[in-house]
Amino acid sequence: MPIFTPSTGIFDDPHVLSEEYVPENILGRSHELQEYKNALQPIMDGQPTKSILLYGKTGVGKTVSTKYLLSHLKADVKEYRDMELTTVWVLCENVNTSYQLAASIINSLRGPENHIRPTGYPAEDMYQMMYRELDALGGHVVIVLDEVDNLQADDKLLYELPRARANGRIENVRVTVIGISNDLKFKDNLRQKVKSSLAQQELLFPPYDANQLREILYARADEAFQDDVLTDGVIPLCAAFAAQDIGDARQALMLLREAGNIAKKKDAAEVTEQHVQRARDELEQDLITTSVSKLTTQGKLVLASTLSLHLGDETPARNKDVYSRYKQYASLADAEPVSQRRLRDHLGDLSMQTLLDERTRNTGRQEGRFKEYSVAIDAQAAVTHLQTDGRMEQVVADLENRL
Ligand SMILES: Nc1ncnc2c1ncn2[C@@H]1O[C@H](COP(=O)(O)OP(=O)(O)OP(=O)(O)O)[C@@H](O)[C@H]1O
Ligand SMILES: [Mg+2]
Repeated sequence: MPIFTPSTGIFDDPHVLSEEYVPENILGRSHELQEYKNALQPIMDGQPTKSILLYGKTGVGKTVSTKYLLSHLKADVKEYRDMELTTVWVLCENVNTSYQLAASIINSLRGPENHIRPTGYPAEDMYQMMYRELDALGGHVVIVLDEVDNLQADDKLLYELPRARANGRIENVRVTVIGISNDLKFKDNLRQKVKSSLAQQELLFPPYDANQLREILYARADEAFQDDVLTDGVIPLCAAFAAQDIGDARQALMLLREAGNIAKKKDAAEVTEQHVQRARDELEQDLITTSVSKLTTQGKLVLASTLSLHLGDETPARNKDVYSRYKQYASLADAEPVSQRRLRDHLGDLSMQTLLDERTRNTGRQEGRFKEYSVAIDAQAAVTHLQTDGRMEQVVADLENRL
């Protein structure tokens, strides 16, 4: 008797629902793709091409659309023109300085045996090496800086790279920079001269609505699942949950995959709406666990302060209200309190991570516009996760008294 037999049921090819899978077609983005295509067209025509800043919230198809268009552009340029087109993709997740960026660009143009170590060179040497390397390519180079917001603090190359040819740093090659960011405020926070260099053209990808998400999910489900295992309500429900949230296709795909996994674990013959509900609860728990555990002590204190107001029915709360509770909690945790201004950044970060909800209120002339925060996650679960940090012991005790 074998111990292992091939799994059966539910999935045909679950990989189709994974993050790495690049779909053949991009759905629900025809207007955005048309604009994006127009922005890239001069490359095909051998013309100088303006830099592009592409922004939009998480999971709205920025990365996948860029990959899709650039792979077509490469193939089509090869077909129609006698021109070298090179694409360089830098995921700036761990690239925080212009120096590291130059090293990443150099290394992505070299074979692994010739990689340089991104330390130890004088900065200017590193930049020169990069420009030489680019110039040697000739033709056109498209440099994609995905998650470019990581470079905000050290923006030298964000300014210089798009205008490298105009400034005489390269002669034989045209460079087009595409910056991608999911931080909608990224552009506003750039210095004016960097903005006018990096964002000569801007493209905004809006969140998906439920119809678009359904379309995306149906196409993937067709390949990912066996025939007839999805009951009718499953995809509309995944799409509705994700649309209600932030309109994120990644979240919608994750829900669908998790619902399939749950059905499979239970040896069910079909995936049902209940499986989607369960998947949603589980994903929410995972999100809380990872986001809360990754917070700094200050981030945890700000979350705890807002939670405390929430438990006293005092939310949505303004920055200044959170701040007075925060100071008490900082003292309980023996931490140096940050300024009220810095607290605002923490509140913004927590909202970006969807642990808090942020909304802007406009009260007319007297108080003007201000932001209010409320807690977006289950309070009990959040307190449980805060408990794992020893420094938060007394804060957690206070929160538990309020639960
Ligand atoms: N229009 C679409 N058609 C098909 N699949 C899509 C579409 N949009 C997004 N996806 C899928 O959803 C997931 C998230 O998309 P993508 O990685 O492009 O998001 P993003 O906008 O780059 O988000 P982030 O800002 O978090 O990096 C990917 O698995 C992608 O394949
Ligand atoms: Mg992306």
